[in-house]
Amino acid sequence: MNTQTSSRLIALAAGAALALTACGPGAAAPAATSAPAKPTKLTVLCTVTEDWCVAQTKAFEAKTGIKTTFTRLSSGEAATKLKATASNPEYSVWWGGPADGFVQAKGDGTLAAYKSPNAAKIPDKAKDPDGFWTGVYVGALGFCSNKVELDKLGLQPPTSWDDLLNPKLKGKFSVAHPATSGTSYTMVWTQVVLRGGEDKAFEFLTKLHPQVSQYTKSGAAPAQAVGRAEAVVGVVFSHDCVAAVDAGFKDVVVSFAKEGTGYEIGAMGLVKGAPEEAAAKMWIDWALTAEAQEIGPTAKAYQLPTNPDAKVSDRSVKLSSVNLIDYDFVKAGQAKKGITTKFEEAIAAQPK
Ligand code: F6P
Repeated sequence: MNTQTSSRLIALAAGAALALTACGPGAAAPAATSAPAKPTKLTVLCTVTEDWCVAQTKAFEAKTGIKTTFTRLSSGEAATKLKATASNPEYSVWWGGPADGFVQAKGDGTLAAYKSPNAAKIPDKAKDPDGFWTGVYVGALGFCSNKVELDKLGLQPPTSWDDLLNPKLKGKFSVAHPATSGTSYTMVWTQVVLRGGEDKAFEFLTKLHPQVSQYTKSGAAPAQAVGRAEAVVGVVFSHDCVAAVDAGFKDVVVSFAKEGTGYEIGAMGLVKGAPEEAAAKMWIDWALTAEAQEIGPTAKAYQLPTNPDAKVSDRSVKLSSVNLIDYDFVKAGQAKKGITTKFEEAIAAQPK
């Protein structure tokens, strides 16, 4: 990890606790008769795993009494859905998914600014200065391999992006489609950074295309495919590979690119024109607390919390052991539409 990235991430682990403030559920209501009614329901657009969406919404509902429902969509699908429903929004808060998707949504005009008082302790790198998104977790991109299947091919777990081009892995590699998946877009932007620009990144992605068995919709799906031996190697966020081991896929192993790998700041944001704005703000305040950020591991979600007071699971991959690239979420988010459109036309639509 370079010094700049390392100090930024160390900053993610430092800081002090903030109590829930007057926006919290226990706050005293003003005495005036015109006091706004207590929110009764919340509809969340959720981009983490289904199990974590369930655990998180149940916990919020238990804490606040607000009936909380969710729809799980991958990052690209979520951004598209927000655009399509902008004139009559269905969701009030978008929770989860790499920050570059939120940068794109901010540009699309589908998010509203909300600076939670609880965001004060979240490091600057992990939040939008204008309050359009705030980071809730961090995770590094990794290789997820089936050790038994690798042995059959006489291969070791990959330790470099170019290892994925090994002819023995033709048709045996799995990754999501970057237009739907934030995980996959993180891989694409990682190549842009490591190879020094889009053209070189696309040269690599073109060579990778025949290796891919099938581009999945969701970013975590390749970990399951590898566990079931439908693919030998996949690219996922490393916590999703650890979750596959916990789900019973014992042959699955995690490894990282020695030349550097990308990472995500998993974010959330208030939807512009949110039908349940007050409840959505309560969610955002709560999701930044240590209590809320300790729910993930109970649902096999081992991302690192952005709240420095939240306990870190023993199952979480420690970022100090990984060579992280300098990932510019703003640049990556602003380039996302163009790059994913080009990927669809120049790569995904081409025969293998
Ligand atoms: O919850 C699993 C996870 O990997 C998150 O860490 C990440 O933000 C999200 O999935 C991305 O999902 P997708 O790649 O499907 O957009």
